[in-house]
Amino acid sequence: MAINAIEWWKQAVVYQVYPRSFRDADGDGLGDIRGVTAGIDYLAELGIDAIWLSPFYPSELADGGYDVIDYRAVDPRLGTLDDFDELITAAHAHDIRVIVDIVPNHTSNKHRFFQAALAAGPGSSERERYIFRPGRGEHGELPPNGWMSCFGGSAWERVEDGEWYLHLFAAEQPDLNWQHPDVREEFERTLRFWCDRGVDGFRVDVAHALAKDLTSRPLDELDQAPKQGSGNADNPLWDRPEVHEIYRSWRRIFNEYEPPRFAVAEAWVTPDHQRLYASPDELGQVFNFEFAKADWFAADFRRAIEEGLSCAELSGSTSTWVLSNHDVPRHATRYGLPQVKASTHHQLAADWLLRDGTTYPEDRALGTRRARAALLMEMGLPGSAYIYQGEELGLFEVATIPWDRLEDPQARRAAHGDAIKGRDGCRVPLPWVAGDIPQPAAWDPSFGDGTTGSFGFSAPAVCGRDAAPTPAAPHLPQPLWFAAHAVDIERADADSILSFYRRVLALRSELLTSTGDISCAWVDEATLGDTPEHVIAYERPASGGRVVVSVTNFGSAPVPAPAGELLIASAPLADDGSVPCDTAVWFIR
Ligand code: NOJ
Repeated sequence: MAINAIEWWKQAVVYQVYPRSFRDADGDGLGDIRGVTAGIDYLAELGIDAIWLSPFYPSELADGGYDVIDYRAVDPRLGTLDDFDELITAAHAHDIRVIVDIVPNHTSNKHRFFQAALAAGPGSSERERYIFRPGRGEHGELPPNGWMSCFGGSAWERVEDGEWYLHLFAAEQPDLNWQHPDVREEFERTLRFWCDRGVDGFRVDVAHALAKDLTSRPLDELDQAPKQGSGNADNPLWDRPEVHEIYRSWRRIFNEYEPPRFAVAEAWVTPDHQRLYASPDELGQVFNFEFAKADWFAADFRRAIEEGLSCAELSGSTSTWVLSNHDVPRHATRYGLPQVKASTHHQLAADWLLRDGTTYPEDRALGTRRARAALLMEMGLPGSAYIYQGEELGLFEVATIPWDRLEDPQARRAAHGDAIKGRDGCRVPLPWVAGDIPQPAAWDPSFGDGTTGSFGFSAPAVCGRDAAPTPAAPHLPQPLWFAAHAVDIERADADSILSFYRRVLALRSELLTSTGDISCAWVDEATLGDTPEHVIAYERPASGGRVVVSVTNFGSAPVPAPAGELLIASAPLADDGSVPCDTAVWFIR
């Protein structure tokens, strides 16, 4: 078997599908598996190597599907296992691999394990599959300690018989106890189930939280648990060393298959620990989220690249590059907001969202210009690049969704005004057909009413058997400005961001990925004029013994173009041939 067939993931372009918002084949307002199959031609045309499906399992949607009721089934609203098999067949026929999302830190509270834990009561083996503890206070009325959930509020929830269970995310997502053999067995069966169905790999949710230490000290002494990603070696909840043994056992399962299955860890840990998750005897790859966290500052991107490449080298893997995903505000918006250094990433975007996009001006033209430059900078790098659905259409964050139409628990759990608006603004159903325009909604005329049109999202005529004659409104409302971003409009426009994505991906595949060489060198200052701190410039070996030089200008003045022939530019070069600000280029020599 050719090396690329085995290690295809090392330099893949992976497209993240958030299934409930990609395409709706049956007209119920919720994207589904057949909708993804209907989009495979579009994805093949885009030039991606794999899709990663966010959870499509039965779920009560307490957290966008990351509250899984049954890990070995398809949510009936999204289709059937037969539909899933058809999707795999269609994807593989186009040489597109399929990665599914595994959520091992927690189940839904409707999962059969949790239901059995509730029924069996304190002290039972069923309860041991989760993390139940007695409460504090005279009658156990206080939570076991002060740990906070990532979504706000206490991380402990009390059940009827008085015990409390741990949930690092929503209360509907009880954390599993990975020391229990049933838990291990359940996930090993699940991994084999999907491998046997032909999936090529897994994205492992919250991979750094499975191993926990709740016994070495009294729980209330652990009250001040350091945050995730703090790099503290004695953290009882996050990034504990014991977690790696779990992934080594998973690797043995992945290696039973031909070719071995691949996995990528979602692990918010310090860069020096990322490499452990990515090592070849564990998951193989880990997300580097530093691009997705960075504002438009060259120094932040340079650090991200240096850390990503060195972590990949230490682990014997390749790096990953991510500009956006379903958890962060869309980058075309982030780059169009004022760029100020803040103490936490996305602070300004979160604040802007909380106030429905009113606090700062969103310069969309600038955001788009920078998003194009960012793509060119990203796609020249060695390793895998993850595209989040809709970024190829240049979608912006939808900041104005009314609060009573939001779905994300981050928003629903938080008191309005002192928290965050959540992640729905990047999860709005995609626009496919500009002409399928909905009427302005009575509750806000800048949104569609959903029932008279959905920009082709629910398009029974295009992709549905058994489709509802009148589609239901998309599960999140689409703003009318989506029309300008619809797939059909952008496909027909050679200057659209979609056409740009296609050209960049084709060049990457032809010139860079095809060499199998993952080396990358910084271009020295002499080539860049006198403002190198505002420039990211690197060079890569290209097919035919040539070299591709990538230059991205984050500064406020043009910089000289490198030697060679211009391959592609994210915006026109200046009249004197230099690279304008907020522009990226690839030259070849
Ligand atoms: C990470 C996922 O990306 C996010 O969407 C989810 O809310 C949490 N994990 C909890 O599963």
